[in-house]
Amino acid sequence: MKFNDLILQRYSVRRFKPALVAREELMKCIEAARLAPSASNSQPWHFVIADEPVLVQQLAKATFSSLVAFNKFVHQAPVIVALVIEKPKVITQIGAVIKKRDFPLIDTGIAAEHFCLQATELGLGTCMLGWFDQKKIKQLLAIPKNKTIGLLIAVGYPERAEPPVKKRKSLADIHSFNGYKKT
Ligand SMILES: Cc1cc2nc3c(=O)[nH]c(=O)nc-3n(C[C@H](O)[C@H](O)[C@H](O)COP(=O)(O)O)c2cc1C
Repeated sequence: MKFNDLILQRYSVRRFKPALVAREELMKCIEAARLAPSASNSQPWHFVIADEPVLVQQLAKATFSSLVAFNKFVHQAPVIVALVIEKPKVITQIGAVIKKRDFPLIDTGIAAEHFCLQATELGLGTCMLGWFDQKKIKQLLAIPKNKTIGLLIAVGYPERAEPPVKKRKSLADIHSFNGYKKT
C-alpha cells in the first residue's frame, strides 16, 4: 500500500469482526513498532499482548464504566495490547530534566502509530485507547506498580471495509512558514 493510502486507510476501529488474529500478524506489528525512532534510541517501550479471550474481556471491562461508557466497544476486540513506558537511557533522562521534555511519552506515541499503520496494511483495525483503569490493567497483566501504561491498543479485523471520511482541521489552520501563525 502506498504511504498516503495507508494513512487514509487507518482509522480508529470501533466495530470488530469476531475473527481471531494470528500471532504472526501481531508480531509484524510489534516489529514495525520496534523500528520506530526514539530519543537517543532509548526504545523505552514494552508491549504486552493479550489474546487470551477471558483475559481480553477482563481488560476490556477496565476501559469503561457506567458513567464513561464510550469504550464499551472494546469488548468486541479479540486482542488488546498494553504499551508500557520503560525508563529511557540515563542520558535521555538527564536531557528530559534539563529540557523539561517527556521523551518516552513522545517515543511511545510514535511506536504506537508504527504499530497501527502496520496493522492497517495487514487488513487489521486498531483503536488507541487513552481512557482506562490503569491500576486494574496493571493487575490483570502483572505489570509492576511503578510502570506507566502509555496506551492500550485494541486490535481486530474491522467490520467495515472502507474508512470513514477524516475529520481534521484544515491545512491552513495547522501550519505557518517562518514564524508561529505568521500569515
Ligand atoms: C492518545 C490517544 C488516546 C485515545 N483514546 C481513545 C479512547 O480512549 N477511546 C476511543 O474510542 N478512541 C480513542 N482515541 C482515538 C481518537 O479518538 C481518534 O484517533 C481521533 O478521533 C481521530 O480519528 P481516527 O483515528 O479515526 O482518524 C485515542 C487516540 C489517541 C491518539
